[in-house]
Amino acid sequence: MAEHWEIEPSGPLQGDVELAGSKNAVTKLMVASLLGTGPSRIRNAPRVGDVDITASMLRSLGAGVEVVGDDVVVDPEGLRESQVPASYTGMNRVPALLIGPLLHRVGEAVVPLAGGDRIGMRPLDFHLDALRSLGAEVSLTETGIEAKTAGLHGARIRLPFPSVGATESVLLSASVAEGRTVLENAAVEPEVVELALFLQRMGAGVELKPDRRFVVEGVPELGRACQRLGGDRIEAFSYLVAGLATGGRVRVVGCNQDRLVTAISTLHRMGARFTITDSSIEASATELRPAAVHTEPHPGFMTDWQPPLVLLFTQVDGMSILHETVFEDRLGYVDALRHMGGQVELYDQCLTGHECRFFESNWRHSVVVRGRTPLVAAELTMPDIRAGFAYVLAAATGQGRSVVHGVGLLERGYDRVLEKFTNLGLQITPG
Ligand code: UD1
Repeated sequence: MAEHWEIEPSGPLQGDVELAGSKNAVTKLMVASLLGTGPSRIRNAPRVGDVDITASMLRSLGAGVEVVGDDVVVDPEGLRESQVPASYTGMNRVPALLIGPLLHRVGEAVVPLAGGDRIGMRPLDFHLDALRSLGAEVSLTETGIEAKTAGLHGARIRLPFPSVGATESVLLSASVAEGRTVLENAAVEPEVVELALFLQRMGAGVELKPDRRFVVEGVPELGRACQRLGGDRIEAFSYLVAGLATGGRVRVVGCNQDRLVTAISTLHRMGARFTITDSSIEASATELRPAAVHTEPHPGFMTDWQPPLVLLFTQVDGMSILHETVFEDRLGYVDALRHMGGQVELYDQCLTGHECRFFESNWRHSVVVRGRTPLVAAELTMPDIRAGFAYVLAAATGQGRSVVHGVGLLERGYDRVLEKFTNLGLQITPG
């Protein structure tokens, strides 16, 4: 696996991108499979590092995991271990999600601290409070989380913020708890709904009510399931922007339009033209306008879409604003864009006028971009998966050969990313 890419701007990026299944759903379905009797199959799985990390974590617990082409098959039969090895500390968000399934299968769980992209503090208090409400005894240690239970039971839980991970934790735990759980202010991201549908296929009593409310009737046992993952909406948006930022035209194939409604409407407001069919979405533009956008839980503009959008702002005439309201510290990557000649300023105010949780805090969570500025070549290190993609686009629109380090991060979250960029015409030399 390469450590860095040398990137030569190669003009407009053009062509088709076959999207993989969603990275943010696949690992959650792998965890859900542990609740069943018999092997479950997840189809259309992306080839991303996160699947390999999760597969090896589940194997360390005794479960069987096989990757067969684009399918991941998880057999929970041999699961006996309650402890996820410390070597998985900080690798991804999965250890926290394993607590409920481990409590169900072996009555206790010892998991290392979760990691994932460094885009804010990412505490686990909502997860832990919810697990306590469901009847787990949970303690936070220096190295991770320990939990045990004499049996999980239903509860009424209200999340302080519609957290994706905490909603998934509750769905996984409540499906096999005794009695009814009502979860209010839940996340309803497409990937969360995908997990709920998978659990329903396994035999869980899950219902999604209006007003961000899940009602789960616990059942003693779940069976197996087979489900095809929906297309990755973050991958889709990233490549659509790759076309627009380089003056090209990219068609993404394999992600339903309903997962991208806000992404499409935002780019449409900026002047992009779309051709949308039942299986593909194509974007192009002759001239783009600036925009003011704030990130939000679904169905709002997704936080993972903002790094490519901010890069696009640098290539649009006029002043644009991005206000990040989901993660407090997700804009540090813009320093690199400034270093490349972008006119980019960070502010601690809520600049789109929408007061968010970080109002009057010190977090610099709004960015003003004055475009259009040519970007010059630079040597960069990727800070997280989505900002990493934006750096590749910055190099693709820039003048001269850039070097981007830490591409392993990109491969953790984007399916066959080198091949896909190369097919669009970007000259990359891995090193
Ligand atoms: C998931 C996605 C990530 C996406 C994010 C929001 C995966 C692997 N990652 O991350 O790509 O950007 O949803 O759509 O699916 N929070 C707390 N306490 C908690 C839990 C969350 O304060 O116990 C806060 C977080 O710090 C953050 C906000 O809630 O400010 C949203 O986080 P959350 O939705 O939980 O994100 P993840 O599930 O970690």
